[in-house]
Amino acid sequence: MIPEGFQLLKTADGSPTLVHPQFGEAYSSRYGAWTQANALYLRATQTHRHPAPQVLELGFGLGVNFRATLENALARGVDLHYLSYEAFPLPPEVLAQVALPLSPQAAQVWQEVCSSWPSSRGPLVLEGSWGRLEVRFEDVAQAQFPPQWASAIYLDAFSPAVNPEPWQLPVLRRLYVAAQLGAYLATYSVAGCLRRGLAQAGFTVQKINGIGKKHWTLAQR
Ligand SMILES: C[S@@+](CC[C@H](N)C(=O)[O-])C[C@H]1O[C@@H](n2cnc3c(N)ncnc32)[C@H](O)[C@@H]1O
Repeated sequence: MIPEGFQLLKTADGSPTLVHPQFGEAYSSRYGAWTQANALYLRATQTHRHPAPQVLELGFGLGVNFRATLENALARGVDLHYLSYEAFPLPPEVLAQVALPLSPQAAQVWQEVCSSWPSSRGPLVLEGSWGRLEVRFEDVAQAQFPPQWASAIYLDAFSPAVNPEPWQLPVLRRLYVAAQLGAYLATYSVAGCLRRGLAQAGFTVQKINGIGKKHWTLAQR
């Protein structure tokens, strides 16, 4: 059951998302939730060809980016290490309802994620032959990230206009420290303050073509 106030939405590629009642925004792009996860987060960061991907994500949300990355890692037979932060977790019954086109192997892992979802403040730690997922139920404004750990960073909070904390310079500076040399950071936002903040933190920043008429931001350490 979808929690009261949340709206279930079919995005342009047919994959579902939710609209959050307080933030007033969808968890993924209305132009295509699954498409965005694959094109922006997985592919633009080069995670789809990394031999041992270590992904750091801000905003686990509905786990769409995790599932896209997992699906790819399973298909390639590489170990995935995925560390995600989430301050406002949804109940696992909701996560289970947001269905995506997964292989049986990935669907099985997703089922395990939903059934292991902690009822308290976590964290969730799940390991298998596919790799490891850790979801820390923390506010990224205060969180410590592992230094020089991430081969890719998925910066995927709600937009800076309605959810400013995850986009602040101190967080971006900590993300820079968390990134391996050469790692890419991807985000759907092209807000000027974000792009300037990323550059100030030390990243090389570029705009890339997104889906619909949108652009996205890709930054590299
Ligand atoms: C755009 S959605 C993320 C979608 C997600 N990446 C996916 O693949 O489904 C933004 C997420 O950021 C989380 N969030 C917002 N502010 C946060 C904060 N300060 N710290 C951690 N998570 C936060 C929200 O609760 C929400 O789940």
